[in-house]
Amino acid sequence: MDGGIFQLDFMTLDDVAEVGRVERRCFANPWPQSAYRRELRYPEQNCYLVLRDLTGDGRRAEHSSTATGWRGLTRIVSSLTRKHDDPPDRPGVAGFAGMWVMYEEAHITTIGVDPVYQGQGLGEVLLAALFEEAINRDAARLTLEVRVSNRVAQRLYEKYAMTVQGVRPRYYTDNGEDAWVMVSRPLRDPSFLALFDDRRRLLMRRMDGRLVDSPHLPFDTAIPATESVE
Ligand SMILES: CC(C)(COP(=O)(O)OP(=O)(O)OC[C@H]1O[C@@H](n2cnc3c(N)ncnc32)[C@H](O)[C@@H]1OP(=O)(O)O)[C@@H](O)C(=O)NCCC(=O)NCCS
Repeated sequence: MDGGIFQLDFMTLDDVAEVGRVERRCFANPWPQSAYRRELRYPEQNCYLVLRDLTGDGRRAEHSSTATGWRGLTRIVSSLTRKHDDPPDRPGVAGFAGMWVMYEEAHITTIGVDPVYQGQGLGEVLLAALFEEAINRDAARLTLEVRVSNRVAQRLYEKYAMTVQGVRPRYYTDNGEDAWVMVSRPLRDPSFLALFDDRRRLLMRRMDGRLVDSPHLPFDTAIPATESVE
């Protein structure tokens, strides 16, 4: 089910606990929360983003089908006792992503979408935003590591013309799996910029108004969803 209205934003210290919750649902070996807190101290060297669900639709759908027993009961009681003028819950984090930017190199360190929101374009929104930020910071290319078994993520990166350029043997400590090193095309290459523009237009059309403008980010959501794409 595609649902929810989403907004990209820079990750803040207030997001770290919620990002940790989503990360534990995405990864076998999540980062400790202290690692995010450390990263957020150096925004000039990196960029960490969250995608907030302003409506909470995905999480509500999950809870209505899974909230049973004690957790379900406490949820019902708390919704019955909440006053109409109580402040709304903080929008939940549907996904997150980050990269380091050093000199001409941008390197994606993490990207994840809560399983309840996967398959509706949000991972691509996060990846496209990192590409955009890397281009804005004048990086020459974007690199990352991905598990050799992670076909879903590899397909996402291939969609943005990233290719496998190397292998890091036994890179993942939880199961000794190898990582592939994937590298983008040169980010200043006009043919890549044209491809990126096309991908983003298609993505905005797919999001069909479900991504609202981001007050703090240059990510442009104003591309008309109906504009024709080659
Ligand atoms: C990888 C991940 C971020 C993708 O996020 P997502 O929101 O589910 O993906 P999207 O809906 O944006 O899909 C974008 C593209 O990813 C690929 N993709 C997504 N789901 C896929 C699937 N089930 N099978 C194959 N490819 C898939 C496709 O190329 C898709 O483009 P398409 O819809 O035009 O075919 C998400 O699956 C995730 O969080 N996985 C767990 C964490 C992880 O592995 N992170 C990557 C670490 S390197």
